Amino acid sequence: MNAPMTMPTPELSHESLMRDHLRAENLPQAVMPAPPINKVLRGQKALVTGANSGIGKAVAIALAHAGADVVVNYVSRPEAAEEVVQEATHCGAEAYAHRADVRKEDEVQAMFKTMIQEFGTIDILVNNAGLQKDAPIDQMTLADWQFVLDVNLTGQFLCSREAIREFKRRGIRKEVSCAAGKVICMSSVHEVIPWAGHVNYAASKGGVMLMMKSIAQEVAPHRIRVNSVAPGAIRTPINMEAWGTPEAYRELMKLIPYKRIGEPEDIGRAAVWLASDDSDYIHGATIFVDGGMTLYPGFETGG
Ligand code: BGC
Repeated sequence: MNAPMTMPTPELSHESLMRDHLRAENLPQAVMPAPPINKVLRGQKALVTGANSGIGKAVAIALAHAGADVVVNYVSRPEAAEEVVQEATHCGAEAYAHRADVRKEDEVQAMFKTMIQEFGTIDILVNNAGLQKDAPIDQMTLADWQFVLDVNLTGQFLCSREAIREFKRRGIRKEVSCAAGKVICMSSVHEVIPWAGHVNYAASKGGVMLMMKSIAQEVAPHRIRVNSVAPGAIRTPINMEAWGTPEAYRELMKLIPYKRIGEPEDIGRAAVWLASDDSDYIHGATIFVDGGMTLYPGFETGG
């Protein structure tokens, strides 16, 4: 789901091909409204990790459309990060790309230091960088377990810690928000849905759930808001196997009561709302953006 650090980028032609399949089969597609013209995040400074593809890219662009200045974090493919910067700049935002591996404490600290030099502060952190390394449990190497936990969970811890240090130091900036800062963790439906063959990934997202809630409980008195977005199946490179052919797409629909795959922009809009004062009383919550995937779809017709 979230911007993978090591996943290939889908060919644009593949995506349009896929949309053609859907059209041919008369399956419902997402209707993408125009980007928000309401600059609810005007003047705010945002950092999105893993923002050079997939969900992270869509979130960075949505935040920029909503008026935030954006740091586009990436770990590989600088040219893809630069494209996101260009697109954010076209929305009138200030933006730059910063390479840092979220697993590395020194790189994360240097990234925040640079951001504070460049933008003066941080108001919104989107902990998005994440990846999958799938294998049956009896074939999963310790290295694959550790790698996924390091990126998906430890990376979110390291970035949250740096953001919260700055939020506490600085306090509320009344001119931009009534909160002293917002952390948005990119979780997954797999923070609650067990996932055979993906124990490292599911364990990391289960960990994100209680990390997010524990931080939220701790920092609430400082008026720092901490929440998660939990995407279901979103059309990104990380899960192309699940939507890349008409057969796979039909199988996937059995898991989605709303009968369409999610688009990265679905997550972008949720992130903008969670970052804005419109959601000011939402704290320690996971917002599922999953077309009903968490509604036990197997019970649609039985039980
Ligand atoms: C995973 C995707 C998967 C989706 C629904 C996400 O968190 O990264 O690969 O399609 O959950 O199962």
